[in-house]
Amino acid sequence: MNAPERSAVHRADAAFQEMHGRAPSGVWSAPGRVNLIGEHTDYNDGFVLPFALPHRTAVAASARDDGLLVATTLGDDGKAQHATPIAVSALEPGAVQGWAAYPSGVAWALREQGVHGGADLVIAGDVPAGAGLSSSHALECAVALALLGLAGRAPDGAAGSPALSEIARWVQRSENDFVGAPTGLLDQTASLCCTEAHALFLDVRSGKSEQVLFDAAANGLRVLVIDTRASHSHTDGGYGARRSGCERAAELLGVPALRDVAVAELPEVLPRLPEELRPLVRHVVTEDDRVLRAVDHLRSGRMAEIGPLLTASHTSLRDDYRVSVRELDVAVESALAAGALGARMIGGGFGGSAIALVPEDALTAVEEAVVAGFALESLGTPRLFTAVPSAGAGRDK
Ligand code: GLA
Repeated sequence: MNAPERSAVHRADAAFQEMHGRAPSGVWSAPGRVNLIGEHTDYNDGFVLPFALPHRTAVAASARDDGLLVATTLGDDGKAQHATPIAVSALEPGAVQGWAAYPSGVAWALREQGVHGGADLVIAGDVPAGAGLSSSHALECAVALALLGLAGRAPDGAAGSPALSEIARWVQRSENDFVGAPTGLLDQTASLCCTEAHALFLDVRSGKSEQVLFDAAANGLRVLVIDTRASHSHTDGGYGARRSGCERAAELLGVPALRDVAVAELPEVLPRLPEELRPLVRHVVTEDDRVLRAVDHLRSGRMAEIGPLLTASHTSLRDDYRVSVRELDVAVESALAAGALGARMIGGGFGGSAIALVPEDALTAVEEAVVAGFALESLGTPRLFTAVPSAGAGRDK
């Protein structure tokens, strides 16, 4: 177990004991993620390639016999924030606002799966919030495992136990229909299914996945995460508008999803679409292709060669999908100018984080260049850290 993981689990556990005067029945935790490549492809039935961060959200939990969900979260300042207790049977979309909507939404989605019991939940974590690193999904996945664990339905491979991919769909339902963010399956699946030292190659349509070895240090490389601190949200219109544009394009083309269009078909396909949908389609179709090429490089041990694919992904997200912001562009441009092999924004966009694939001996220069690039345009100070693929969600105690 690495340091941030231990501290989130430990903090949730200790705070539970202090608050309730007894040990929790268990502690579960789930990580945030970075996505190496494959952006805005998940809801188009396409391909993604995320890995789990060492940063985690932990949930210490015990069952209650009065049917209430009683959730507390520890803020960054260590102070407890208590959600208003609510009966699991009374949960419905719109009933809970703010951070408590995330654990409540999971309880609501699991109720449909026969998990009705109340619970005391104490939450602590170190996934940077609002940074596009999937802190909300880390929270949702940890809560899902906690509630399932308390109900004796842990995903342990026993007969009748749920598969992780099934839990990812339940978490997606809570995010889409309870929280109100029309997101795809990338983040939940990454948080639940990633493993240490690997990126997860997921075909969203078939649900088939492959753990692809991703040991940057063994290749003399590092993945630098650049949290721009420009905060983002997927409950406002930008994300949903892109998503419905893709769905409309697929419908006009008579295909189930944009996954079904090949790069070679673009010259014939694009003119058949209204002008405003063409760049969306071009991004999704070329991005799926970039994921496949990146996976090929990784499988053959050519990690450095994914660099140009990362940068091409950024260009496509910036110019065609139009979800970048100045902070993300500056992060990418300054990292590349200082020797990164590739760089791109990650996640939904409109703020959040970028990654850069950096030769070990250029790391300091790249970090300094990014900070200087932000200062030059008065964009504040980004938060920088290097990340290695870490373990997915599970029970810690
Ligand atoms: C957000 C969503 C994901 C995915 C990415 C873009 O992170 O939660 O489902 O669509 O944006 O790739």
